[in-house]
Amino acid sequence: METKLLNASQLDVAAHIIKNGGVVAMPTETVYGLAANALNGAAVEKIFAAKGRPADNPLIVHISEPSQLDSLVSEVPQKARMLSDAFWPGPLTIILPRSDVIPQQVSAGLDTVAVRCPSHPIARELIRLSYPLAAPSANLSGSPSPTTVQHVIDDMNGRIDAIIDGGDCAVGVESTVITLAGDVPRLLRPGGITHEQLEAVIGTVEVDKAVVNPLPEGAQAASPGMKYKHYSPKADVILINGTEQQFIDYVNSHSADGTAALCCSEDVGALRVPYEVLGDIDDMSEHARKLFSALRKADERGWRTVYARCPEKSGVGLAVYNRMVRAAGFEIIEL
Ligand code: TXA
Ligand code: MG
Repeated sequence: METKLLNASQLDVAAHIIKNGGVVAMPTETVYGLAANALNGAAVEKIFAAKGRPADNPLIVHISEPSQLDSLVSEVPQKARMLSDAFWPGPLTIILPRSDVIPQQVSAGLDTVAVRCPSHPIARELIRLSYPLAAPSANLSGSPSPTTVQHVIDDMNGRIDAIIDGGDCAVGVESTVITLAGDVPRLLRPGGITHEQLEAVIGTVEVDKAVVNPLPEGAQAASPGMKYKHYSPKADVILINGTEQQFIDYVNSHSADGTAALCCSEDVGALRVPYEVLGDIDDMSEHARKLFSALRKADERGWRTVYARCPEKSGVGLAVYNRMVRAAGFEIIEL
C-alpha cells in the first residue's frame, strides 16, 4: 500500500480516507496515534493489523469536544465530569462502562471504553471533520511510541493509508489512564497529568500495582496493554537507582564497547561512555518529551547496553519511571 504524507492543510484528504474506512496516523500532544472511525468495527480491525497488535488489547476513543463523551458511555458519573472539566482537552484518558455504539473490536470484548479529548489542534480538527477516532500509539506493537513524524514513517510506511505531519509531540509519553468503572478511581497508566493533579480534583486515586511492578505470572491485567512487552529497543536497558555520583561511577566502571547511558544534563561532563541527555534532573517533563526518541536512537547507533538513571517516582517522574522500567524489562540495579 502506498502511504500518503499529508500536512496540516490537507485534513480534508485525511477525513476522506477515514470516512472510507481507512487508517491515518495523526499527531496528538502526547504521541502520534493510528486513527480510524471508532464506530466502524471493520475500520478498527485495520489498526490492529497495521500495528501487529493483539486483538485483546482495547483502544482509546478520541473525541473533539468533552460533551461527546455522553454518547459513548452508559453513564457519566460526577467524578468523570470533574476530571473532564479540569483536564480536557488534554493528556487524560477516562475509562467508563461503554454504551452500545462502541464496536466490540474497540473495547476488545470488555464492557468498558477508554475515552480521551486530545488538545492537539490537528487531532481535534480531524475528529470534527470525520468521527470519534479509535487510536492507539502509531508504533509497531512492542516498540517505543512515536513522538516525531519520522518515527511514524519508520514503523508505518506502506502499512497505512496516510500520515499527517504535525511536528514533534509536546508531552512525549502517552496519556494518563484512569478508570472510573470500579468502586474506587484507579490510575492504570501515569502520564502528563499527574497522580497528584488527579487527587487534587477528585480525592483519593489508587495507583494500580502494575504501574511500578511487573505483573505476576498468570495475573489478570486491569489494563490489557500492561501485560505486553513494551517500549523495548533492541539494546538491553538497565535502570540504575542511586545518587548522581553512584550512577556516574557505576557506568564508567562498566564501560565496554556498545555501552552507553541515558542521563541528565548534570552528568554529561563526568561520563566516559556515549550518552543521550534526557534533560535537567529537576525537569521530568523534558525527560518525558525525549525518552522515546532516545530509546529509538539507542538502536540506530547500535548500542547494546544502555544504563539509565532512575527518576523519582512522583509527578511526571512516575510516567518516566513507568516507561523506563518496562523498556528495562524491570531490570534495576540498586546502589
Ligand atoms: O496518549 C495516548 O493515550 C495515545 C494517543 C494516540 O492518544 N494513545 C495510546 O493508545 O497510548 P494505546 O492503545 O497505545 O494505549 C492505550 C492503553 C493500553 O494499555 C490499553 O490496554 C488501555 O489503554 N485501555 C484501553 N481501553 C481500555 C479499557 N477499556 N480498559 C482498560 N484499559 C484500557
Ligand atoms: Mg501503545
